[in-house]
Formats: sequence, structure tokens, C-alpha cells
Amino acid sequence: MKNTSPDFHRPMKLMCVVGARPNFMKMAPLIARLRLSRAFTPVLVHTGQHYGREMSGQFFSDLQLPAPDFHLAVGSGSHAQQTAEIMLRVEQLMIEQRPGAVIVVGDVNSTVACALVASKLQIPVVHVEAGLRSFDRSMPEEINRIVTDAISDLLLVTEESGQRNLLREGVPATRIRLVGNLMIDCLHLHLDRALRSDVMDRLGIGEEKFGLITLHRPANVDSPDQFQQLLEALGTISEEIPLYFPVHPRTRAALDPAGSYARIRLLEPLGYLDFLCLMAKSSLVLTDSGGIQEETTALGIPCLTLRDNTERPSTIEQGTNILAGTNKSTILHAWRELRERPGSGRVPPYWDGNAAERCVAALEEYFGTGCLPSAEERASPTTFT
Ligand code: UD1
Repeated sequence: MKNTSPDFHRPMKLMCVVGARPNFMKMAPLIARLRLSRAFTPVLVHTGQHYGREMSGQFFSDLQLPAPDFHLAVGSGSHAQQTAEIMLRVEQLMIEQRPGAVIVVGDVNSTVACALVASKLQIPVVHVEAGLRSFDRSMPEEINRIVTDAISDLLLVTEESGQRNLLREGVPATRIRLVGNLMIDCLHLHLDRALRSDVMDRLGIGEEKFGLITLHRPANVDSPDQFQQLLEALGTISEEIPLYFPVHPRTRAALDPAGSYARIRLLEPLGYLDFLCLMAKSSLVLTDSGGIQEETTALGIPCLTLRDNTERPSTIEQGTNILAGTNKSTILHAWRELRERPGSGRVPPYWDGNAAERCVAALEEYFGTGCLPSAEERASPTTFT
């Protein structure tokens, strides 16, 4: 899309949207790189889907993310309530701010809500982490991914499967770029600092081997029977290796406060640096998160994914990830296999810490920018709410 407007020689205002925890790790390296570009003026919007220190504030400080220019403070709600509230508030903001394009990341409700509003206001939408498919439409994120990709103008892809999926769905190749993985940029940027965290001392972890658990998918934690199966499998594994479990608020609500969980130690949610430190030093990660499948692949840490599918097949085909399913027997089977035959993996192409560089190059090429900012544009005040 060549920019032929009279504003061509002014930097393009790019509205960059974050809402939930995994968005912060993808946007931080991109915003930092965009700030160096003379072609774009990034404006950071936080929808407030995740809020408070544990789920949001700690990530902004750990990742050295600038305070958002606009905070929509939507908070929690049902899918319809949350998505609708984000749409109402961001529509107003987009009309006032008139960005040249909107960047959305990942697959959370904030992603689809802001993509929908922008596309109806005829503002170009850029989707970072486009094309991933679990082919499981019972996952809310899969619906968010399909809808967002269908209405996005430029689709920035983390792995080859994303490219294939989009081409099969009829997206023209001219709108797709394989740029690599911003979450791995973030990991490269912060790993040294993370390894200096004192979290191991605070938790009293010495030289012994340990594993790490994260669980928050509605399909795993909202049904008591399903959650119980997972807890039983994890309890059995913890008899062989102690497990640390930072508990997401959704999962906390499903746990029995009086329950006992073998050698599983429950923790409050951790910030980015503390969690990355534990992950890098662990011998095993058990998770239903998408991003953690990628981070363990980059770190070479064995990962058992407690799901029946993944939208990130490169972590299995190339990385250290194993799909362990969600039944007690399949999980224990995968654990025994892993214990007896520990595998190794390699890091997928372009997960090299330079994804932000390639994202900005793709944006400059696509929007035909690459120009000096006018004094007027530089002087225009940014409103903080
Ligand atoms: C959301 C994303 C999911 C992502 C996950 C990462 C969607 C549909 N889901 O799931 O893809 O993997 O974030 O964490 O967008 N809550 C708090 N504090 C918070 C946020 C939530 O206590 O800061 C509680 C609330 O009770 C809320 C529940 O957690 O109802 C679920 O939060 P929500 O944002 O709806 O979904 P997540 O499960 O966090």
C-alpha cells in the first residue's frame, strides 16, 4: 500500500494496542524499535483487559515499557461484555486520534476488538503473530485469530505454519511477511537481567532439579473434572520432581483453598523477570500457555503442553515441546517418555532476537514511508488519560 497522500513526509501515527499479559512481551521490543524509526510515531494503548500490579504493572516495569499514552480500563467480563466494552472505548479514541494504522498482537479479546473497530473506520490493521491455527474452534483464541486475520491488511507471521495457513485461507502473499518472533526478541533482551533475579532465594530453591507449572485455559481449569485430572497427574509427577506453580487468577478461583497438592508449591502470579529466571533454570515446564511453548523452545527446556493441540507446531516439529494431552494417563505417559529419552530441539528460523527489526522494515515497505518528521507533527502533544 503506497502512501501517496500529502502527509507523506510526516511520520505515520501507529496505534499499538496491548491488553493482556502475553501482549506486553510482544509489544515491548516492537515499541522500542519503532521509537527509533523516523517513519512512525507509536502511540501505546492499554485496553486494561489485564490490570493491577501482578497481571499488568509488574510487566510494564520489568519490560521497561513506557506508560501507555491511553488506558481504557475495561477490566474483566464475559467475552461479549469485554469485547464490546473495548470496542466502544477504542472507537472513540481512534476517531479522536486518527492513527495511520493500528497494530494488534496475539489472539486475546483486545486483539480482535481493536482490529474490528479499526477496520470499520477504514484504518489499516497490522496483525503481529498472524496465521497461527489450532484448528480447535472451542478455544476463544482461535476465533479471535481467525477473525483478526480475516480483516487485517498486513499480516506479520512468527513461523512457517502461519504463512501456509494464511495462503490456504486465500490471503494474498503480498500481505504476508515472515518476520519471526517478538516474544523471543523480548527473551533475548531480558535474559541476563532475569538470571540475576533473586526469585530462587526467595522461594528457597537450591541446587535441586525442579519443574514449573502454568495453567489457565478455560478448557482445563473451568471444568472441575478436567482440572482434577490435571492436578492428579501433576501431583504424581511432583513426587519425582518438585513443582512450582504460579497461579493465574482464573485458576485460583478453581482451586480448593483447603486442598493439598503433593509436592506442588502454589505461588502468586510472577512478573516477567522472575518467571523467566525460573523457566531458564528449570528442568521441566508443564503448561497450557502458547507463549511458554515458544519460550521453552528458545531456551531448550523440555516442555509438556497440557493440551490436545497447538497453534505453534514449530515448537513440536523443531523445538523441545511435546503435546501431552489432558488426561492423567496421557500426561504421565509423556512424562515417563521424556524422563527416559530426553530429547533436544533447535530454534525455529527467525527466532533470533531480530524480529522487531524485520517488523519495522515490513511496516516501512508496506506503508511506503521512510521520511523525516515535520516540526508540527513532532510538537503535537500526546494526551494522557
Ligand atoms: C486471557 C486471554 C488468553 C491469554 C491469557 C493470558 C482472552 C480470550 N484470553 O485469558 O488468551 O492466554 O489472558 O493470561 O483474551 N483476572 C484478574 N486480574 C486480571 C485479569 C483477569 O483477576 O488482571 C481474573 C478475572 O476474574 C477474570 C479472569 O481472571 O474474569 C479471566 O481473565 P480474562 O482476561 O477474561 O481471561 P484470561 O483467562 O486471563
